[in-house]
Amino acid sequence: MASRPLRTRVNGTALERTVPDERILLDLLREDLRLTGTKRGCDLGTCGCCTVLLDGRPTLSCLTLARSAEGREVTTIEGVTPAEGLHPVQRAFVERGATQCGFCTPGFILTSVALLRDHPHPSREEVARAISGNLCRCTGYTKIIEAVLAVGGGK
Ligand code: FES
Ligand code: FES
Repeated sequence: MASRPLRTRVNGTALERTVPDERILLDLLREDLRLTGTKRGCDLGTCGCCTVLLDGRPTLSCLTLARSAEGREVTTIEGVTPAEGLHPVQRAFVERGATQCGFCTPGFILTSVALLRDHPHPSREEVARAISGNLCRCTGYTKIIEAVLAVGGGK
């Protein structure tokens, strides 16, 4: 099993460490860096719990080799959470009751942050499409969609 240096940035901080070629990004984040806000759900690419932003794009870290982050920027839920308080999307989720057990929430937040960056005032259909890869067993999705719409100033 070959190991090579990996140079990347995680939540704005340069990271250089020797990583086995087959190391999965989710394992690098959760086990090596202890960034446990990124959740392991299905480990099969179907639930979206492990979503992180890779160069700003929502990416399933359970299906992504850590080496894919070479020279790129990885953003986890820890990276969008201010030192004090909440990101506006996080606050909207709390205020609208869009989180219950919370296991899916980091993935939804990161997917929503990327959507709102590219489409600051999304329609209900655009929100539904954007989060279609994120599964939630608790909320029924309505409150999640309403939280994202609220940040975008819509209904
Ligand atoms: S844990 Fe990655 S998609 Fe479910
Ligand atoms: S809040 Fe429990 S799975 Fe989404």
